[in-house]
Amino acid sequence: MKSSLVFVSLCLALLAGCSKNPAPADSASPAAPAKVKIGFLVKQPEEPWFQYEWKGAGAAAAKNNFELVKLGVQDGEKVMTAIDSLVAGGAQGFVICTPDVRLGPAIMARAKLKGLKVITVDDRFVTADGAFMTEVPYLGMSASKIGASQGDALFTEMQNRKWPAAETGVCVVTFEELDTARERTDGAVGALKAAGFPTANIFKAPQKTTDVPGSFDAANILLTQHPEVKRWLIVGMNDTAVLGAVRAMEGRSFTADNAIGIGINGTDCIDELSKTKPTPFFGSMLVSAPYEGYKTAEMLAQWIKDGTVPPPDTRTPGILITRENFKQVLKKEGIIE
Ligand code: GLA
Repeated sequence: MKSSLVFVSLCLALLAGCSKNPAPADSASPAAPAKVKIGFLVKQPEEPWFQYEWKGAGAAAAKNNFELVKLGVQDGEKVMTAIDSLVAGGAQGFVICTPDVRLGPAIMARAKLKGLKVITVDDRFVTADGAFMTEVPYLGMSASKIGASQGDALFTEMQNRKWPAAETGVCVVTFEELDTARERTDGAVGALKAAGFPTANIFKAPQKTTDVPGSFDAANILLTQHPEVKRWLIVGMNDTAVLGAVRAMEGRSFTADNAIGIGINGTDCIDELSKTKPTPFFGSMLVSAPYEGYKTAEMLAQWIKDGTVPPPDTRTPGILITRENFKQVLKKEGIIE
């Protein structure tokens, strides 16, 4: 890889800023507060992805001299309590990856009432009709494209091993109620079909929860239904989704020789890729979580400080990491030491 993801992301962000008219300063903003203080609220604080976002946000706070409050918000009640505690502590806004995108209108109503500015990261708010709340600035991964790259990489690896597609199955761990998740898995399936993979061998396994047990259960049901499949490719919306399916496959004696999984995030598979013996978890589409945390926190602080409204929609790219290159790439990205 010649250029780092952070660099590519920065260029994209700059391009996005230049291609549109620069957002006007919000003249209705009150005078800038003495010290900027923001919250960074995440739905799954136990997931490394979100810890790396926090790390990036922390770096932005240190560089730009603002205060940062990191809060885990696993459900709607916790989000509302977090907003109230931020207000009580004198914060002027928050970045959020919401536990449920349909909470968007309620979260924005509360934030407006309390005079807080909001940026969404990763999971974009939707209205009651399911439409994106485009009025709330958003930053997240280029979901369809990254999903397509995941599908392409799986197809390539299958071909490297000379597996006939007709004798291979695809286990697609889905979470379709979340748009970014559906866009990723649809992207992967679209790429596999475009490469010539037979549609009849592509199977969806819907996860009820977006943790390892959720994808483990989903994949187990699929494996019970399809004992005839002897070789598997595994798709999922993130590393966690693919890891659960990998564990389910191992439970049925599949190994790195007859199952290939590629995740997304690149942050939640470090232990897995570090194992001495390869598992079916082949690689991941790495996206820069520290960059996402840094950029959203910085944009919010700027907005509070001088009224610069962030761009409505900023996207980040992804690249494939495998056992061969993950240490080198993650070091370059500042994710591991
Ligand atoms: C969702 C997923 C996370 C991560 C982010 C990245 O929130 O749950 O694991 O993939 O998207 O945008």
